[in-house]
Amino acid sequence: MGNEQISTGLDRVLVLEVARVTEAAAIAAARLRGRGNEKAADKAAVDAMRRELATLNIRGTVVIGEGEMDEAPMLYIGEKVGAGTGPQVDIAVDPLEGTTICAKSMPNALAVLAISEKGGLLHAPDMYMDKIAIGPGYPDGIVDLDKSPGENVKALAAAKGVPVPEITACILDRPRHAELIKAVREAGASVRLIPDGDIAGVIWCLDPKETGIDIYLGSGGAPEGVLAAAAIRCIGGQIQGRLRPSNDDERNRAAKMGIADINRKFNLEDMAKGDVIFSATGVTDGSLLDGVRFRGDFAETETVVMRGASGTVRRIKSTFRDAGHRFPA
Ligand code: FBP
Repeated sequence: MGNEQISTGLDRVLVLEVARVTEAAAIAAARLRGRGNEKAADKAAVDAMRRELATLNIRGTVVIGEGEMDEAPMLYIGEKVGAGTGPQVDIAVDPLEGTTICAKSMPNALAVLAISEKGGLLHAPDMYMDKIAIGPGYPDGIVDLDKSPGENVKALAAAKGVPVPEITACILDRPRHAELIKAVREAGASVRLIPDGDIAGVIWCLDPKETGIDIYLGSGGAPEGVLAAAAIRCIGGQIQGRLRPSNDDERNRAAKMGIADINRKFNLEDMAKGDVIFSATGVTDGSLLDGVRFRGDFAETETVVMRGASGTVRRIKSTFRDAGHRFPA
């Protein structure tokens, strides 16, 4: 009694190790905030993340990365990372989520990483995915990609016990979402548009009391969908995703990655299962996390790191002395 162990899964020490990795990537990217150079900021984050991953006692395989081997020199899908000792794990990375917002020094750019037991994360190709996500506490299947946006917001309002005008949907501000935005508004709900960064968009809907966002809707990157699913695995909530290939090349790529049915509707369990650790560090200030602060040779970061097996969510404020030396540009 009182001595039960939570299902073991990943070694919980990894929680701190993983946070170190996103901290390093965020510091590197933050040095290039507001410089209008998306590629340079992304490359800095990728380099730093890879350097830091190499120090971890894991035998990791990148399953969500910077692209396929022929398109990305580092953190490509299939790349082996880590010190080569320890458990075999799968890794999903987005070293700089919101390259444009970082380049423009706008809110909510993040460095993100998720780690799972081998086989725990969907191998999603880099293409669009239709997504729908809500927070914890609702009956399963209350919202569904196969329902209309109006049906979904009405069902959510009924389940929450509020009138539809009290529901807010977060949607990426894109021309392709014009019909979706119109349908949500016509149903009576409010729409919070975001310029970029739909991992944060999904995470916001997991805590509606704090954020005022009840549901995430719309299409964004499939890799970002898997990373968001990893966060939901830790916090609780529901997500569905369906790939939206735009040509035969994308369809073939999905097939090569083992997705036999391109129209398949993935649920949380399909995207992130078993024990998962998710970590995000703020690059620019945002409502999820503060961005990196530089004070002389000090750097300060804020990270949220969570673990599926225990459901623990930690917020870590770190101060790095001698940041110039520890995290060389
Ligand atoms: P990047 O950091 O790769 O630029 O991604 C930012 C992002 O907004 C993602 O959060 C989102 O999933 C995707 O881009 C949406 O793609 P698009 O900009 O083509 O609509």
